[in-house]
Amino acid sequence: MPDLDGRTALVTGGGSGIGAAVTEQLLNAGVRVTICGRRLHVLKQTADRYANCSYVQADVTNEKAVTNMFAELGGVDIVVINAGAADSAPIHKTDLDLWMRMIDVNLTGAYLVAREAIKVIRKKGWGRVVMVSSTAGLKGYPYVSAYCAAKHGVIGLTRSLAIETAKLGITVNAVCPGYTETPMLQDSIDNIVTKTGMDQDQARQALLTSNPMGRAIQPEEVASTVTWLCSEGASSITGQAIIVAGGEL
Ligand SMILES: NC(=O)c1ccc[n+]([C@@H]2O[C@H](COP(=O)([O-])OP(=O)(O)OC[C@H]3O[C@@H](n4cnc5c(N)ncnc54)[C@H](OP(=O)(O)O)[C@@H]3O)[C@@H](O)[C@H]2O)c1
Repeated sequence: MPDLDGRTALVTGGGSGIGAAVTEQLLNAGVRVTICGRRLHVLKQTADRYANCSYVQADVTNEKAVTNMFAELGGVDIVVINAGAADSAPIHKTDLDLWMRMIDVNLTGAYLVAREAIKVIRKKGWGRVVMVSSTAGLKGYPYVSAYCAAKHGVIGLTRSLAIETAKLGITVNAVCPGYTETPMLQDSIDNIVTKTGMDQDQARQALLTSNPMGRAIQPEEVASTVTWLCSEGASSITGQAIIVAGGEL
């Protein structure tokens, strides 16, 4: 368990799935964590489980909401940029609205949060920014071109910010999970069932065959990598895209 006692963190999308697992592991490492998202009841339910967890309702695609959130936080050492969504459609049915929604939440949201985070932590001489990208940030998958484009963008953003902050005691890295057992995976399975007539098991298998281990990644496995990247031992690791995908890539 890395000693991060006394540090403070923001986890976007920390109310559910990977973000909730990251929140729990950071809290266990002695970090005070603030989670953000749009649904108040989800945030409250997660935050209420712990003593050192608070929440802010904020939409990461809204610049004013993001700047207000950082003003409210005061200071922060660790920022985990995890909020995201993965709507799907074949390219000929990917209208501009779907495209923009995927770019907004997955890429523009990451930019806005990273920009405000680095404004704060560049003055401290120590900081960690971890972006939750995806294997879809490193390879293509069918029917999620907007999501793939956005997640590839997140890795470009990570690499650029890592170089920019390399002399400031800040590391900026991405983690790239494969299909992970969260509400997002269940939504993808439900979508396949609706569109193809497969049953739940068949739809699940169709997705999970991409993982050589033949199983879904657990949110805690992604969270361990995020927590390690926040540790002192990972001080010289920056600009990396760490794959957590059972050998998929
Ligand atoms: N599950 C997978 O298979 C998988 C694989 C690779 C990468 N990922 C990535 O992992 C991250 C977490 O996803 P998850 O799998 O844990 O799914 P999830 O449980 O659906 O988590 C997504 C979180 O993001 C929040 N969010 C969405 N839009 C937001 C917005 N505009 N502003 C603020 N918060 C927002 C959601 O809360 P609200 O809806 O309340 O805002 C939710 O808590 C995402 O970036 C996703 O792309 C997931």
